[in-house]
This record gives sequence, C-alpha cells and structure tokens, in this order.
Amino acid sequence: MNILGIESSCDETAAAVVKDGHCIQSTVVASQIQVHHRYGGVVPELASRKHIEAIVPVVDQALTEARLPLSDIEAIAVTRGPGLVGALLVGFSFAKSLAYGLQIPWVGVNHLEGHIYSVFLEPDPPSFPYIALLVSGGHTSIYYVTDPTAAEMMGQTRDDAAGEAFDKVAKMLDLGYPGGSIIDRLAGDGDGTKIKFPRTYLDKSTFDFSFSGLKTAVLRYITTHPQALQEQIPDIAAGFQEAALDVLTYKAIRAAVEKGCDRIALVGGVAANSRLREKLTTDAGRKGIRVHIPSIPLCGDNAAMIAGVGYHYLKAGMVAESGDDVFSRQKMIREKVS
Ligand code: KG4
Ligand code: ZN
Repeated sequence: MNILGIESSCDETAAAVVKDGHCIQSTVVASQIQVHHRYGGVVPELASRKHIEAIVPVVDQALTEARLPLSDIEAIAVTRGPGLVGALLVGFSFAKSLAYGLQIPWVGVNHLEGHIYSVFLEPDPPSFPYIALLVSGGHTSIYYVTDPTAAEMMGQTRDDAAGEAFDKVAKMLDLGYPGGSIIDRLAGDGDGTKIKFPRTYLDKSTFDFSFSGLKTAVLRYITTHPQALQEQIPDIAAGFQEAALDVLTYKAIRAAVEKGCDRIALVGGVAANSRLREKLTTDAGRKGIRVHIPSIPLCGDNAAMIAGVGYHYLKAGMVAESGDDVFSRQKMIREKVS
C-alpha cells in the first residue's frame, strides 16, 4: 500500500511516499530555517505562511521522486499534533481535501508517535517491546513501546525539552539558531570535564526530566565568567552537553532494565547528536542493551515517519472522520500513562 505522508507541525514542510509502512519511495523536507534564523526561534505566523507556499511543490516533488502519479496513492497520513496550530492546520487541511478529492482514506497521526516509529524505516528495526527515548525540540520523554501504535509513557520533561535547552544555550552564546547541531560541533573541540554543570536527576526513581536548572547554570556561568568567553565556548558547550546527556542516557537505560527490554530506540531531532549516539550505544551496550538510531535525515521532522505510522493505523481500521481537526482533544496516541 502506497501512503502519502504529510508533516507541517513546526518549521519543516515535508511529504513522503512510503510503501507498506516501511519502504521509503521518496522523502522531501523543505526547511524554513532561513526564515526564522534571524529571529532566533520559530515565528508561528511566518511558519504557517511558509507552509502554505511550500505544501503543493513539496507534495509534487515527493510524487515525482517516487515515480508515482497521484492516482496510485492509496491513502494519506498527516500530522495532527502536537505542534503549532496554524502550521498543523496547513498540512491537515491539505491532506483532508486531497483525500476527499481522490476518494481515498486518510488518517491523522501523532507527531511523537511518528518519531517513535522512525526506527522502523531503517533496516533491522527493533523487536517489540522496546524503550524509546524521544528527544526533540518540543518534547523529551521515555516510552515503553509494545506495538506500532501503542506506547506507555514512563516519564517526560517537567519544563524544557532537551532540544530547547540546546537551542537556548546556543542563543546565550550567540551561536545562531537552531543551536543543537552547532553545540554538537563545538563540543567536539571542548573538554566536557572542565566546567561541571549540574545533572538534574530529580528523584532518581522517576523517569521525568528537568533541564531548566541546567540552562540557568550555564547562563550564570556565562555572566560570571565574561573574561575570554570566546575561548571558553567549546568547553561550555561540552560541559553543558555532557550534563544533559548523562541524565538522558542514565534514565533510558534504567527504563530498559526496569522493563526487562534489551532494545532502546533513540529518536527525535536531538538523536542526531553525535555524542549522544555514541554514549547511549556504549553505555547501553555494557548492559547488553542494543540501541537503534535512525539515520540523521530521519531524526529530524519528516513525513516518512508519519506515513509509516499511518499504515498501521489504517491496517487496524482506524481512519479519520470528516469532522476531525487539529484542535480536537481526542487522544492521538494509544498511550497508557504509568
Ligand atoms: O524533532 P525535531 O526536528 O523537531 C521537533 O519535533 O521539535 O527536533 C528539533 C531539535 C532542535 O531543538 C535542534 O536544535 C535539535 O533537535 N537538534 C540537535 C542536533 N540536531 C538537531 N540537538 C543536539 N545535537 C544535534 N546534532
Ligand atoms: Zn519532531
């Protein structure tokens, strides 16, 4: 079954064609970074307008690269949330209208579920159940995943998401937006042990996270050590990164041990972080746990992951109804909260 996936939850307009839930025929991502860069963050109204401009060419390109006419698309899966409402509305309304015009089924998919599923678009995916460490710009959570559309959330951030902390620290250091990949690169030249930033484990028995204290500690360091700040940037980046990654890896591995899982999937935009990829793989490997990480283009927002989840929804007989919208409070992920 060829499914057209559409994603527009934040600052990427994306479309993809995926066959049978795992075989990517095409994946196209139009980034708006250039538009938001000078504001140091995503401007929601600008994001919506850019999605409107990009949606038709991006879907066209995805069909062209898949070498499929629109008439060969059998269903559409579209991100329904969470995300910026105006941005979501563009992809969602487009998908709904296209499905109506083509008289094919369509389904709304939870963006987070898309990230959790992204490892199934790679060869050798994990077997169920597995632990997903989801680290993105808007979310940081640990899930116990038992089938393609069922996950139990074990913990989540109580304040900032990991990616948000990376972006804010980069902003404090005047490094540009989005800062995650810049911090990643600079940290490679720094010494992560030179400046010791706090690790917020909260109560060690919870799987919740908190990154706001770490962010404040970095800010305090910057304001109290203005001398030769430029030379210190790699060490600050490395020190911050080590503090954030220590907590993320510790909790993901503990979740796997508690659930008796020998697989962890590292997913979301921050899963592109080179040090996190290496550290989680090594630390988990010591406990006999294998780590699955998507290739870099599938870590960030993309529509292939949405089409992949959509396939399983449709197979389970779950289709959207004409009255569905991005505001509806209906639960999108079949999630049991522990
Ligand atoms: O999943 P994503 O593309 O969008 C959301 O759903 O939020 O994640 C974007 C986040 C941004 O905060 C970005 O700075 C971060 O992922 N990111 C990274 C790296 N590449 C992207 N963070 C750390 N290291 C990276 N290499
Ligand atoms: Zn995302």
